[in-house]
Amino acid sequence: MSLVPQPFTPPRRAHIVGLGIAVPPQVLTNDDLAQRMDTTDEWIRTRTGIRERRVSTPDIATSDLATQAGRMAIADAGITAESLDLILCATTSGDYIWPSTACILQQNLGATRAAAFDLSAACSGFCYALATAAAYIESGSMKQILVVGADTLTKQVNWSDRGTCILFGDGAGAAILAAGPPDAGVVSSIMRADGSGVESVWLPAGGTRTPITTELLEAGNVGLEMRGREVYRFAAERVPEVIMDALCSVGLNPSDVGLLVMHQANLRIMQTVSERLNIPMEKVFVNLDRYGNTSAASVPMALCEAKAEGRILPGDVVVTVGFGAGLTWAANVIFWQGAANG
Ligand code: UT7
Repeated sequence: MSLVPQPFTPPRRAHIVGLGIAVPPQVLTNDDLAQRMDTTDEWIRTRTGIRERRVSTPDIATSDLATQAGRMAIADAGITAESLDLILCATTSGDYIWPSTACILQQNLGATRAAAFDLSAACSGFCYALATAAAYIESGSMKQILVVGADTLTKQVNWSDRGTCILFGDGAGAAILAAGPPDAGVVSSIMRADGSGVESVWLPAGGTRTPITTELLEAGNVGLEMRGREVYRFAAERVPEVIMDALCSVGLNPSDVGLLVMHQANLRIMQTVSERLNIPMEKVFVNLDRYGNTSAASVPMALCEAKAEGRILPGDVVVTVGFGAGLTWAANVIFWQGAANG
């Protein structure tokens, strides 16, 4: 009998069996922005890779996009909302400070049996939520979970700060996780955090520390703030590291990766990660040019589009990775099977 601890293999794993995406109809191009502020299409494209983004009109809230993406994922999986055990919504721009946006989703979808809660890990939110939902499924306590990443950060940006407002867009992505055989599915997840970076990218006003006051509003100091270069350096260092750790934990290396689905924040960050891990850009999914940084929604939106474009096939190793406010970062390794039968 070996005394060396063996990696834990659960009797079942979480498989992604349905995907959905939703974005608001209104498109805001770089040229549109250049008419409103001191910027250019050329600056935005070369520094970020973004060409346009979707913005919500006042009648569209985060739960509206999340509901649309959730319905699509449920239909894609061929299940009913009533069969869901849990709705887990990763968001930092929920409809209300409380209650959770997940509860609004539960009502909208008619998921009468499902528990519901939100998860706050900013742009890492979907990867954190995937890890959390997978653990519930592996434990045997739940069988079907709707995981949503949804944000409408264009409602939180400071439109007079050209260094940040040009980056963000609105959207939602959704995945149905179902219990399946243990030799595939979400086989590894690593979540990390560094609270010393709370002020690197944050929404300082509106919580219990700094409630919004008339003075703050008049000074225009109520939007999202980010130290861009600091976050850039953090991502370039931590993202390759967490991907390596997640791959190594299941005995894989970067050459095994079929598709890398990263948080869509900046094309240059994706290129840096691609170079550092020697994963060619052909294996890195990019849709940031059309949507900008959609925070927790970016990874599931990218997964959904990648699947629809035939970029993910049964048997592929798919790595998802998120990074952002907190600071937080996380990666998941998925042996893609596509349909659960266990
Ligand atoms: O989802 C959360 C994770 N967030 C991220 O991953 C963001 C990571 N950071 C970044 O992607 C980059 O830092 C940015 C795209 C945000 C900024 O790019 P940068 O190359 O770091 O530019 P910078 O902030 O250092 O600014 C360089 C110059 C400055 O001018 P000076 O001081 O050199 O004269 C800025 O004032 O570019 C200027 N600038 C702009 N110029 C035209 C900043 N924003 C703009 C703009 N248009 N929109």
